[in-house]
Amino acid sequence: MKKTIKIIAMILIAACAYSLAPVAGLYLSSDPAPYTNSQASEKLKANKGNYFEFIVLSDIHAGLIFDDSAALKVVRSINREGRFKKVPIDFVATAGDNTFRGSAWDYRIYNRIRSQVSCPVISAMGNHDEDKDDGSLFRKYVGKKDLSFTDRNSYFIVIDNISGNMTDGQFADLEEDLKKSSGYAHRFIIMHKPPVAPYFQSWYRPEGNTWSYRFMKLCEEYKVDIVFSGHEHIFKAKEFGGVKYLTSGGGGMPTQIPGAGGAFLHYTVVKVYNDYIDYEVRRIFPPIWEFFGYYMWSDIFYFLKDALS
Ligand SMILES: [Fe+2]
Repeated sequence: MKKTIKIIAMILIAACAYSLAPVAGLYLSSDPAPYTNSQASEKLKANKGNYFEFIVLSDIHAGLIFDDSAALKVVRSINREGRFKKVPIDFVATAGDNTFRGSAWDYRIYNRIRSQVSCPVISAMGNHDEDKDDGSLFRKYVGKKDLSFTDRNSYFIVIDNISGNMTDGQFADLEEDLKKSSGYAHRFIIMHKPPVAPYFQSWYRPEGNTWSYRFMKLCEEYKVDIVFSGHEHIFKAKEFGGVKYLTSGGGGMPTQIPGAGGAFLHYTVVKVYNDYIDYEVRRIFPPIWEFFGYYMWSDIFYFLKDALS
C-alpha cells in the first residue's frame, strides 16, 4: 500500500514538473520585437472570402508564473485550432488586462507569449495595463488604445474604457465607426469592462454609470453583433436588444469564483459564415501543477462552503 502511494506521489510530482517546463522555457527565451495593433490589423487586409474564424480572450495578466503557465496552455490550444486548415483563423483579440500589473517585466512576458500565437494579435487596453505608468509601455508594445479595423465582411472596433466610462469624444468616434460599418455584414466591439454586470453576484456594477445604457442603445441601434469584454475573470454570455455581450476573461489569471459560475480557463472562438455568426467557448484544463496547487483547493473550498452552509 505504502509503495503504491509512493509511486502515485512520484507520478504526480513528475507530472507537475513536466507542466512547469513551458513556463521555464518562456522565462529563459529572448525578447521578440514587439508589434503594434495597427501592424497586426494591416496583415488582415489581404484576406479574401467570408468564411473565417477569430478568437477572443482576456485577462492573461502576464508576468506572474500562475498566469503565464496557464496562458501558454491557452496559446498551445489556440495554435491547434487551425490544424485541419478548413477554416482560416484570422487573428486573436484580447479584451485587456494583458499584463499582471503593467510593469516593464509584465509587458516583456506578454510580448513573448503573444509572439507564440500563430496569427496576429490585437490587444485592447485593460485597467491593469497602466498600473505602473501613464500608458507609455502599452504604446510601445501595443500602440493605439482606440482603433477600428476591417477583416473580410466584418468591422471591428476596439475601445479603451478602463476608466469605467466613455467620453463624449469616444461616443462620437464610435457612432462614426458604426455608420462606416453599415456596408459590412457584421460589427464587433472589443473593450475591457463590460457595459453590464455579467454575473449577478459581481462586485462590478457598470449599470450605475451613464455610459453603459447609452453605449448599449447605440449598439442596438446600429445592430452590433457581439460586444466582447473581460475584466471579470469568467465566461458569461448575455443578450440585450439583439446584441450579444460576451465576457471572456479566463485567459490566464487564476479565476476566483466557482467553475459553475463561469470561472474557468478558456478562450472564445467566433465563426463568421457570410451573414451568419456563431461562437464556441474552449475550456482549458489548467497546467497540472496549477491544478494541484490552486484549482483543486479552490473547488474543495467552494464544495465545503456550499455543503456546510
Ligand atoms: Fe483582470
